[in-house]
Amino acid sequence: MYTLIDGKLVSQAVKDRVKLEAASITEAGGKITLAVIIVGDDPASRVYVNNKKKACEYVGFESIEYALPETVSQAELISLIEELNRREDVNGILCQLPLPKHIDKSAVISSISPLKDVDAFTAHNVGKIMIGDYDFLPCTPAGIMEMLSYYHIEVKGKRCLVIGRSDIVGKPMAMLLMHSNGTVTIAHSFTENLKELTLQADIIVVAVKKPRFLSADMIKEGTVVIDVGIHRMENGKLCGDVDFDSVKEKCSYITPVPGGVGPMTIATLMQNTLKAYRIQHKS
Ligand code: GUN
Repeated sequence: MYTLIDGKLVSQAVKDRVKLEAASITEAGGKITLAVIIVGDDPASRVYVNNKKKACEYVGFESIEYALPETVSQAELISLIEELNRREDVNGILCQLPLPKHIDKSAVISSISPLKDVDAFTAHNVGKIMIGDYDFLPCTPAGIMEMLSYYHIEVKGKRCLVIGRSDIVGKPMAMLLMHSNGTVTIAHSFTENLKELTLQADIIVVAVKKPRFLSADMIKEGTVVIDVGIHRMENGKLCGDVDFDSVKEKCSYITPVPGGVGPMTIATLMQNTLKAYRIQHKS
C-alpha cells in the first residue's frame, strides 16, 4: 500500500500560512508586490505565470505582469529588471524561464537584486543555499522538503538519490537533503549503472525531463518517490518522469502529476515574496 503525497493539500496549508501573515502586513498599511516577467508566448510558461499570479491574488499580494515580445533585446530586459530593482513598491522579481535563445540567461539572472530574487537563482543566493544560511528557499526543492516534512518522512540517515543536476532543481535539492542529514547521491545523464543506485535508494527525486523514466523494476519495495517532471502526452493527458502506475505498487509514498510537486513550487514562491518584503522592511 502506498500513500499519495498530496501537493495541493500541502501547498494550500503553506499558502494559508502566508495569507495570514500577509493580512497582518496589509492591515498595518503595507503592500506586498511581486513583479512577474514573461518573454514570448511559450504556452507552458503562460500557464505557470497565470498560476503564480493566481496564487498572489489568493494570499493577498499584488502582482504586476510584464509580458515582453519574443523579440525583446537583452538590454531592454535587463533595463526593465534594473528599474524594478530600484522601485521601492516592488518586493520580488520573477523572470519566467526559459528565455529566447538570443538572450543570455545568466546575464539576466545576475541583473536581479539578490534582495528581490524570489526564485533564489542569483549567485549570491545560490551560494547562501550551499552554506545552509539562506533567505530565499529554492522554490521546487524547498516545496519538496515541505511535503516530506508534512508526511513525517524522515530524511536523516536515509539514502537519497537525486536524478538530474539542473541549477533549478537537482543541485539545490541535493543541498537541502544534505542539510537534513540525508546521504545524498546525484545521478545524471553520464551516470553508469543508474539502476544500481536507484535500487539502493530510500528516497528518489526524479527531475530528468523524460516521460515515465523511472520504472518499478528500478526501485526497491518501500521507496519514497518524488516526481518533478511534467509532460503532455499525445492523448492530451499529463504524466511525470515516473511511471506512476507501476511504481505506485512498489513504493511507500509517491507524488502524483499533476497535483504533486508543481503546486509546491508556487507555494514556496509566495513564502519567498513575503520574506523579501520582510527583509526590505526589516519587519
Ligand atoms: N521555469 C521553470 N521553472 C521555473 C521557476 O521555478 N522559476 C522561473 N522563474 N522559471 C521557471
